[in-house]
Amino acid sequence: MRIAILGSGNFGKALSAASVHAGHRTVLSAQHPERAAGAARETGAIAATSNQAALEGAEIVILAVPYAAVSDIARTVGSELAARTVIDATNRFDPLTLDGTSNAEQIQSALPSAHLVKALNTVVAARLGAPAIDGVSLDGYLAGNDTTAKTQVAEFLQSLGFHPVDSGALVMARALEAIGLLAIQLNMNNGWTWETGWKLLGVKKA
Ligand SMILES: NC(=O)c1ccc[n+]([C@@H]2O[C@H](COP(=O)([O-])OP(=O)(O)OC[C@H]3O[C@@H](n4cnc5c(N)ncnc54)[C@H](OP(=O)(O)O)[C@@H]3O)[C@@H](O)[C@H]2O)c1
Repeated sequence: MRIAILGSGNFGKALSAASVHAGHRTVLSAQHPERAAGAARETGAIAATSNQAALEGAEIVILAVPYAAVSDIARTVGSELAARTVIDATNRFDPLTLDGTSNAEQIQSALPSAHLVKALNTVVAARLGAPAIDGVSLDGYLAGNDTTAKTQVAEFLQSLGFHPVDSGALVMARALEAIGLLAIQLNMNNGWTWETGWKLLGVKKA
């Protein structure tokens, strides 16, 4: 697949390495183009000099930027995201932001024509390249309103080594962002090493 990752920080860079490893043509951008260039050199991805350039030909666009940066992206390249599959991987960090809304629904409002899928926010950066623990694939939860986009994202997650789990409509991003926040709080408060991953046990088809 042709993947564009907007954001080349801890998460974007690790995702870039995993995506390249899975055989995807992966293009990276950042706020400062030199950061994207550095991350691309380390991971084997292609560096773009702008978000706009990164989007060229992309089948999946991944928002790997802080949530606060999404409004700038919506303003500058939002029109180019119409009818495209866009993954929102952003998380919330403060428990007080658990207010019954989600970043994803707000991003969908800012990008009404994009096929937005909440995904990857429940995966810590260190697990992107190590998606199994003791031989068990970690879950890759996704939520969205467009069935075709969700199928495409599920295929991408599977290619990275995750067990894709369709978690429902985009409103379920509220739950997925709560799970992301829970992992952040648990790692932070317990001095864990940010290598945790989510797996729902006992899953059997009726
Ligand atoms: N880290 C994790 O384990 C993890 C796990 C799940 C989800 N997430 C989510 O992933 C997102 C990124 O997290 P992170 O840890 O990678 O943060 P980070 O290390 O601070 O990196 C943020 C990246 O976003 C880029 N950026 C900021 N504004 C931009 C813009 N307008 N256009 C393009 N790029 C822009 C920055 O560019 P510069 O480098 O040029 O400053 C930087 O490369 C966050 O929403 C976070 O909640 C992170």
